[in-house]
Amino acid sequence: MLRTCVIGMGPIGNRHARIYREAELAELVGVCDIDRERADAAAERHGVPAFYDAQQMLDALQPDVCGICTGGYEYGSDHYAPTMQAIEAGCHVLGEKPISNDVAEAQRMVEAARQRGVCYGINLNHRFTPAARLARQWMGEGLLGDLLFVNLAMWIFNPAESSPWFHIKALHPHTVDLMRYYCGDVESVQCFAMKAPGRSIWSTAQFNMRFVNGAVGSLTGSYDIARGHPMERCEVAGTKGRFVLEDMWRQVTLYPAGDPVKRVYTDPVFGGFESGGGFEQTFRERIFTFLRQVSEGVPPRQIDGSGADGLAAQKVLAAAIESVEKQTVVKVT
Ligand SMILES: NC(=O)c1ccc[n+]([C@@H]2O[C@H](COP(=O)([O-])OP(=O)(O)OC[C@H]3O[C@@H](n4cnc5c(N)ncnc54)[C@H](O)[C@@H]3O)[C@@H](O)[C@H]2O)c1
Repeated sequence: MLRTCVIGMGPIGNRHARIYREAELAELVGVCDIDRERADAAAERHGVPAFYDAQQMLDALQPDVCGICTGGYEYGSDHYAPTMQAIEAGCHVLGEKPISNDVAEAQRMVEAARQRGVCYGINLNHRFTPAARLARQWMGEGLLGDLLFVNLAMWIFNPAESSPWFHIKALHPHTVDLMRYYCGDVESVQCFAMKAPGRSIWSTAQFNMRFVNGAVGSLTGSYDIARGHPMERCEVAGTKGRFVLEDMWRQVTLYPAGDPVKRVYTDPVFGGFESGGGFEQTFRERIFTFLRQVSEGVPPRQIDGSGADGLAAQKVLAAAIESVEKQTVVKVT
């Protein structure tokens, strides 16, 4: 049983805490927030002690696993300090996305976890669904052939205007991670962005990518469309076939090249992902996978949705931002 604590008790930290309580492999032992009211409310809700200082909690409880659900500027500036403290304390860390709003800090966290020999994962939850995994399995079986292109789009509504790059940095760790999951590392990127009517930030964007393996891709993203309908669509094509993944978990369809018979996986109505809570289930699946991998002693570099994956996505997004600023194609370094 992995003794687990959560740092940062906003809506997302509470969701993580609830899932750790449900997990067979974990025991929630403490919660922490520098906001005392939030810490106390979460402690009462989850039936564990409250802490107001991360180091004090780490010293007192010596947990095996630490969830980092802080936010901050661009939803990522507050992750660094508690992540480094938890890694230093020898915890396996599962942090929220973006890994950081600052690539240099993200790099330091990944390096610290590597040196300390602990597992470091990021909640890149969109890849943790049965449909998303099946699509990867089809690729592994050679059903797509040689990779050609990926088209991905994701749109939600987020009215926050806190930073010009909030939409790109905070939403697109998810989409870039899915693109990397299927197509590998991105070599270069070009991005156009726009400010939707009434907005002051780059709230809608179009990215073009070239992957290291030669495949090409496009990504459309927006913080300007109200919820209520599907929010994501991913199409990946190769010389032998093409798949379309709807909303991460709802449905994935394989269209074999030259064959009118297609294969469709639809999330079951009973006992499926949606009946288990839909989007919340992506968190559960992701967290349970981390706990299983840690329990099984999977080497840190093989953690699915790792800190290194979170860092790689953020580097692509930094290149995209540079592309908007310089109006040019930017290599991902
Ligand atoms: N994976 C997803 O699908 C998904 C969805 C939404 C949000 N998120 C991410 O979840 C994170 C949290 O989101 P939220 O809406 O709950 O944020 P929030 O701002 O409401 O909560 C963050 C909390 O962290 C606390 N905090 C900051 N620094 C701290 C520290 N050093 N020690 C202890 N507590 C500290 C703050 O006081 C605050 O209460 C963000 O990074 C966001 O990007 C992920």
